Amino acid sequence: MKKELPGGYELDDSAARVDLAEVHRFLSTECYWSKGRSFETQVRLVQEASRIVGLYHEGRQIGFARTVSDGVLFAYLTDVYVLPEYRGRGFGAMIVRFSVDEGPFAHTRWILHTVDAHGLYKKFGFAPPTARTLERQAPS
Ligand SMILES: CC(C)(COP(=O)(O)OP(=O)(O)OC[C@H]1O[C@@H](n2cnc3c(N)ncnc32)[C@H](O)[C@@H]1OP(=O)(O)O)[C@@H](O)C(=O)NCCC(=O)NCCS
Repeated sequence: MKKELPGGYELDDSAARVDLAEVHRFLSTECYWSKGRSFETQVRLVQEASRIVGLYHEGRQIGFARTVSDGVLFAYLTDVYVLPEYRGRGFGAMIVRFSVDEGPFAHTRWILHTVDAHGLYKKFGFAPPTARTLERQAPS
C-alpha cells in the first residue's frame, strides 16, 4: 500500500523497499531506544514486523515506523523516526496516521513507548496507560 504526498514524498508499507542500511544507521546511532542495535537484529525486526512504513523523498528513505500486531486485537508501534532535516513539517504525523489509522490494524488497541513525543501521539488518541497495564522488562 502506497500513498503519494505532494513534493515527491511517498509513504509505502513494502518491507522489500526498506533501505536496511540507512534505517539501521539511523536507529543504531541516533535513537535512544535502539542505540547499538546490530544490523542482523534490524534485518530480523523488519522481516518479523506485521507492517513497516517507510517515508521516501525521491527514492531516499527519510522516515520509518514499525508495527507488531496479532492482527485482531492489539498493535504496537515502535521505531518511529523522521530524519532531522525533514522534521517539523508534519511527516511524523503522516507516518503515525498511515501506520495507525490507514492500515490493517486501525480497528485494534494500540500501545507504544516514548520518552518525549507525547504531543505527537496524543493527536492520534494515545493516552497514559490505565492501571490495568503491566510491563515486564527483558532479562539483562
Ligand atoms: C518524533 C518525530 C518522529 C516527529 O517528527 P516530525 O516530522 O517533526 O513531527 P511533525 O512535524 O509531524 O509534528 C506533528 C506534531 O507532533 C508534535 N511533536 C513532534 N515531535 C514532538 C515531540 N518530540 N514532543 C512533543 N510533540 C512533538 C509537533 O509539535 C506537531 O504538533 P503541531 O501539529 O501541533 O505543531 C521526530 O522528531 C523524530 O524522529 N524524533 C527522533 C526519534 C523519536 O524520538 N521518535 C519517537 C519515539 S517513539
